[in-house]
Amino acid sequence: MANWILGVIGGSGLYEIDGVENGRWESVSSPWGQPSDQVYRGTLSGIEVVFLPRHGRGHSISPSHLNYRANIDILKRCGVTDILSLSAVGSLREDYKPGDFVMVDQFIDRTFAREKSFFGQGVVAHVSMAHPVCERLAHMAADAADALDVKVHRGGTYIVMEGPQFSSLAESKLYRQWGCDVIGMTNMPEAKLAREAEMSYATLAMVTDYDCWHEEEDNVSVTNVLEILKGNADLARMTVKNLIKMMAKIEREPTMQGIETGLDFALITPPA
Ligand code: ADE
Repeated sequence: MANWILGVIGGSGLYEIDGVENGRWESVSSPWGQPSDQVYRGTLSGIEVVFLPRHGRGHSISPSHLNYRANIDILKRCGVTDILSLSAVGSLREDYKPGDFVMVDQFIDRTFAREKSFFGQGVVAHVSMAHPVCERLAHMAADAADALDVKVHRGGTYIVMEGPQFSSLAESKLYRQWGCDVIGMTNMPEAKLAREAEMSYATLAMVTDYDCWHEEEDNVSVTNVLEILKGNADLARMTVKNLIKMMAKIEREPTMQGIETGLDFALITPPA
């Protein structure tokens, strides 16, 4: 059996995955506190998969109240090597249309009310976030989605806002000027913590709206986000299945980016 263990974090509209063999919900406890939910574990094409609904199955936890550290920690405890984050986003550019997928490759973190590190009390570490996404996982996931009837954009900068309110028009225009491509509320500090935990992380962003900058389109609302997500949740699930089939054919090697050994160069506190 190939040695990948895929963690899938399902965002808004994605609270379960189907077709998993021997699938069962399991509680995993963490010293970092309460995670969003139990994890759904099983195998697909012989590959272990661990699914976590980011906001809980009843979507009851807002982006600012998620326990990102516990969520990443329990995936690590399950042996996850690679995390695919499935996330709804608004588009900040004309050619990334609602219904399209974007394989994000950069983030701008504008969140300010979240615990962002496993380190800082007793042990200090500074991991590199120059390339926050695992290139190999992102390529594989984009190939997996390309096989489906959906437009996939390879590359995009995701600006992470605190929320829970959506942006003002002035903010939306500002983020466009900054060169951001999509906007969401959840992928930070998730990506930072995955890097600290030495797990590959990639985001398959599903465009649900044009935020509020587009003059001919409706301003974002939960109603239009959910409507688009209903239409492409199945595509996201099929992407995961295709990705797993690809993983089943190859042995996992350490990443060229050195994600699995990132902490070797990051700890600044000398050993006691
Ligand atoms: N999630 C989906 N659409 C969004 C938007 N426009 N802003 C922030 N988060 C979102």
